[in-house]
Amino acid sequence: MQRVFIEEISAFDGQEAQVRGWLVNRRSKGKIHFLTLRDGTGFLQATLFKGEVPDDQFELADHLPQETALEIGGLVRADSRAPGGYELAVKSLEVISQRQAEYPITPKEHGVDFLMDHRHLWLRHRKPWAVLRVRDEIERSIHDFFHQRGFIRMDSPILTPNAVEGTSDLFEVDLFDGEKAYLSQSGQLYAEAGALAFGKVYTFGPTFRAERSKTRRHLLEFWMIEPEVAFMTHEENMQLQEDLVAYLVGRVLERRKEELAVLERDVTKLEPTAEGRFPRIHYSRAVEMVAELASENSGLEALPWGEDFGAPHEAAISSRYDRPVILEKYPARIKAFYMQPDEKDPRLVKNNDMLAPEGYGEIIGGSQRIHDPELLIQKIREHNLPEEVFDWYLDLRNFGTVPHAGFGIGLERTVAWICGLQHVREAVPFPRMYTRMRP
Ligand code: 4AD
Ligand code: MG
Repeated sequence: MQRVFIEEISAFDGQEAQVRGWLVNRRSKGKIHFLTLRDGTGFLQATLFKGEVPDDQFELADHLPQETALEIGGLVRADSRAPGGYELAVKSLEVISQRQAEYPITPKEHGVDFLMDHRHLWLRHRKPWAVLRVRDEIERSIHDFFHQRGFIRMDSPILTPNAVEGTSDLFEVDLFDGEKAYLSQSGQLYAEAGALAFGKVYTFGPTFRAERSKTRRHLLEFWMIEPEVAFMTHEENMQLQEDLVAYLVGRVLERRKEELAVLERDVTKLEPTAEGRFPRIHYSRAVEMVAELASENSGLEALPWGEDFGAPHEAAISSRYDRPVILEKYPARIKAFYMQPDEKDPRLVKNNDMLAPEGYGEIIGGSQRIHDPELLIQKIREHNLPEEVFDWYLDLRNFGTVPHAGFGIGLERTVAWICGLQHVREAVPFPRMYTRMRP
């Protein structure tokens, strides 16, 4: 009998096949037992009829506990009533291992905290299965997107000598002899060195922010993808972001239908994104829009010009659109030191955020970078940053400096939006949060 994975079972319709996996569920109707098996690639219903399997195996099947590891063989047949459209009519059943203790996750409802305490086991269940397979598809589509466009993936260091995005949320690490380093907040500065060496690069790695916040969008450790391109302008940067996000949503819609169905995701809410054409709104216009929305909605407060948007402002702005929105040209005062000022209005910088629809908020932050060495030194001083640690970063401006731009997309926020999750903690296998370090 040929050994097959559940995801390829439809190719074996009418043939005999063998599947190895774990017992998810079972029920019985006297002379028939139904077993649901998972093997990581999918879920399969196996049917045992009395008389068609040896009696001892038929008897055994009625007592197997959840999470028993099994090998079953039988006839694959299409059955519209079976989840997935196929079932296995079992002829042989062999137990590979039985569990050693009471399995804590039962079919009854458990709270998320309980499930997160058992994340190492919860990963086996349907919802994490679907989410993490969507995450994998997003990761792959990001690599494909950039490689199709001639980017080089360049890894940035995790132990770093200085801050990128402000000093308030740095994790400090003790090195030797009293010296300190920090866990990377962003690979951007290194990606800039890469852009001037390779033209087009992207980083893909973990980033760390010591945020004492318990919101549904903040992790202490999250994965960020940071492309950086020499000679790229602010306009081209926004286009690259739109192309990327449209592409990856299109890929998930095409290749992860089953997972989206498990998550009961309303795919009509994702389809417009795959078309591209994301609206672009200037910061000042967005502030006006917030004022208009605040007058319609008593819960929302207007925002004084010059302040940064909060989560409720972002949600209100995106509620007007069926796809991501790009907000551009924020006041320099509320942004990082490295952003290129707008020549039309030097109070502003050539940056943008991208807000996901349905209230998911910011998934991307990006900008054109300052390429003039004098201006960069001035900004480092204005931000009270230690000049000496930026010597190498200034070298990038001293030798062959050119305009360049890039952005960072947060993987977990993107996964949470596409999967329709309540919280980013479910978008990563083992979340690291202010309130959770285990398992
Ligand atoms: O907007 P941020 O801080 O931008 C940067 O780090 C730039 N250096 C990127 C660049 O231009 N190369 O972070 C980028 C994205 C956010 O839009 C968000 O999606 C995600 O990273 N992010 C977080 N995700 C989860 N938990 C957190 N604490 C996050 N902080 C940022
Ligand atoms: Mg940001």
